[in-house]
Amino acid sequence: MKILVTAGPTRESIDPVRYITNRSSGKMGYALAEALVRAGHQVVLVSGPVTLSAPEGLDSLIRVETAAQMAESVKTVFPSCGGAVMCAAVADYRPAEPASEKIHKSEGDLILRLERTEDILLSLGRMKSPDQVLVGFAAETEDLRQRALGKMERKNLDWIIANRVGLPDRGFQSDDNAATAYARTGRVEEFPLMPKKLLAQKLMDLIFPGV
Ligand code: C5P
Repeated sequence: MKILVTAGPTRESIDPVRYITNRSSGKMGYALAEALVRAGHQVVLVSGPVTLSAPEGLDSLIRVETAAQMAESVKTVFPSCGGAVMCAAVADYRPAEPASEKIHKSEGDLILRLERTEDILLSLGRMKSPDQVLVGFAAETEDLRQRALGKMERKNLDWIIANRVGLPDRGFQSDDNAATAYARTGRVEEFPLMPKKLLAQKLMDLIFPGV
């Protein structure tokens, strides 16, 4: 099956030398792409800026920087895919008026106005055909189950993988993660803390069994 994976953070320009981003390392998304390749799938990885090297055997790797670029690539590739796993930590807001020249400091404070970016996963949920499998992630610091189930419903997902962030031993930057997978069918699978590579393999075996 051809499967689209998104990974990493996005970068939103404030001016030519500064940007807004987040703590995503891309490790989980790259591990998911690698697990799918190993299981024999044709994988298109759309990646924000990360320092990881590309998994071997990808169908293609599309490198993007901003949420808008990621949205464009993902929406172009998705119609030809049987499934999509959206693991990228996409910026929810970007500077509304990025400066074309470097902003110089002055005595007073600087106020930046931020505007919403496109929710790419929500767009895919609206585009999706009944036979496409759409998987989202929910990284939360609290109310994990309720927020994850709300997202699955709102974004028309088949699965949502919920994981807790803000703890030192897991999540962003870490090599380990724990997660709970919720399916639209009501199925729930818990995965205890383990290396992201192993977790990725278990999650993809669960969601995309067989080739
Ligand atoms: O609503 P929230 O951002 O918590 O949802 C997280 C899920 O949505 C992740 O799967 C993430 O990749 C996806 N997402 C997206 N585009 C956005 C924001 C989130 O695809 N602008």
